[in-house]
Amino acid sequence: MIFNAALLAIGLAPLLATAQLSGSVGPTTSYTTKASNKICNVLNYGGVADKKTDIGPAITSAWSACKSGGVVYIPSGDYALGSWVTLTGGKSTAIRLDGTIYRTGTGGGNMIFIEHTSDFELFSSTSKGAVQGFGYEFHKKGSLSGPRILRLYEVTDFSVHDLALVDSPSFHFSMDTCENGEVYNMAIRGGNSGGLDGIDVWSTNIWVHDVEVTNKDECVTVKSPAKNILVENIYCNWSGGCAMGSLSSDVDISDVVYRNIYTWSSNQMYMIKSNGGSGSVSNLVLENFIGHGNAYSLDIDQQWSSMSTVDGDGVQLNNITIKNWKGTEANGAQRGPIKVNCAADAPCTDVTIEDFAMWTESGSYQKEICNNAYGSGACLKSGSGGSYSTTVTVKTAPTGYSAATMAADLKTAFGTVSSIPIPTIPTSFYPGATPISALAGAAKTTSTCSCGN
Ligand SMILES: *[C@@H]1O[C@H](CO)[C@@H](O)[C@H](O)[C@H]1NC(C)=O
Ligand SMILES: *[C@@H]1O[C@H](CO)[C@@H](O)[C@H](O)[C@H]1NC(C)=O
Repeated sequence: MIFNAALLAIGLAPLLATAQLSGSVGPTTSYTTKASNKICNVLNYGGVADKKTDIGPAITSAWSACKSGGVVYIPSGDYALGSWVTLTGGKSTAIRLDGTIYRTGTGGGNMIFIEHTSDFELFSSTSKGAVQGFGYEFHKKGSLSGPRILRLYEVTDFSVHDLALVDSPSFHFSMDTCENGEVYNMAIRGGNSGGLDGIDVWSTNIWVHDVEVTNKDECVTVKSPAKNILVENIYCNWSGGCAMGSLSSDVDISDVVYRNIYTWSSNQMYMIKSNGGSGSVSNLVLENFIGHGNAYSLDIDQQWSSMSTVDGDGVQLNNITIKNWKGTEANGAQRGPIKVNCAADAPCTDVTIEDFAMWTESGSYQKEICNNAYGSGACLKSGSGGSYSTTVTVKTAPTGYSAATMAADLKTAFGTVSSIPIPTIPTSFYPGATPISALAGAAKTTSTCSCGN
């Protein structure tokens, strides 16, 4: 079943994607067209691949010269980033990062900030481009106040792909108020600590697929407001896990699908987190999830104690389908595979849990908790009114819970005190599935590089 779904997704990706998304995603002009218009090689704008000279000013100058139609080209080689870049007002442009950028500056904010830009592509044509944040230099001193690696704000019709973002001092990649974006073939590898989010997205019409995240916080997480988000083929390879939130006031999230999500040794397979608050989340599908060694599995917690209470009865969660979850959790007596803890004053409605088979890795029983949640499946109650609390103890392993593992699950965390190696982009992000678009580097060796789009 799982493999069929995965294989289907490969063959029919554009078709299936369109069903969830609200229109096309990605740049509207091809890389080739942009490159034939103009190429701004940073080496011609003062850049030096010596891992010492600050590449920041060269990137900024190359951007100015090519932002209205062209390609900022950072060839393979090692570069130092001492001053952060804010790249604004691009139109029909691309940044081709085939080299490795090493953080040397120490300011806060965003190392690479792209805003008010449309028809944009940020990628590596070799799938070897990377940003090394050396976050451990902050983390070993107990500080999480260093810069984020990458932030997109009000960027439309764009893609980001075939890049590794490594050891960010803070968040790795945020998309804020963007539209029509595609993010794929990415490896994000951060320290083993909270506060080092992988991908956070609050935007409209975004397709995130074929991404691996290692850290101990958000894997790929949707925040408010967001609409028409499709997240698939995700490998949370020792992470916090995928989530939605934290949600607070006037939440406005709808039409979100996560599918083919493999989660290993994380805090959860999927969490919706809030505590009080207002607004709504509707039309959410979480399907084809495999988990192993995680603390929580399905964890909807609207009384999340790690968040201080926000004014309001609670965020209204409505029309949520959880389907085809397989695998094992670390300790089902302590943290069972199903926890649907909805707000007493804003019960969840129209929740469906089906084809859900998970079992505990230690002990001989597991718990399922449903509070104030209405719908069908597991411990959910039918109907829609009032508050209730149920805990069910399950003493027999459900049939069909066993599920594939990924061959290369990370066995020990990277910690936070020493440098984290730059990974190569994997060629599978979910058991049995290959990336929906071949890695750009692979495409290059077999034929001419179409390099995205
Ligand atoms: C519930 O969500 C699903 C999946 O997004 C959607 O197809 C369906 O139309 C929604 N139902 C209602 C009543 O909105
Ligand atoms: C999972 O992470 C570990 C450490 O980064 C790595 O060695 C392994 O290759 C990763 N798995 C895959 C499939 O990329």
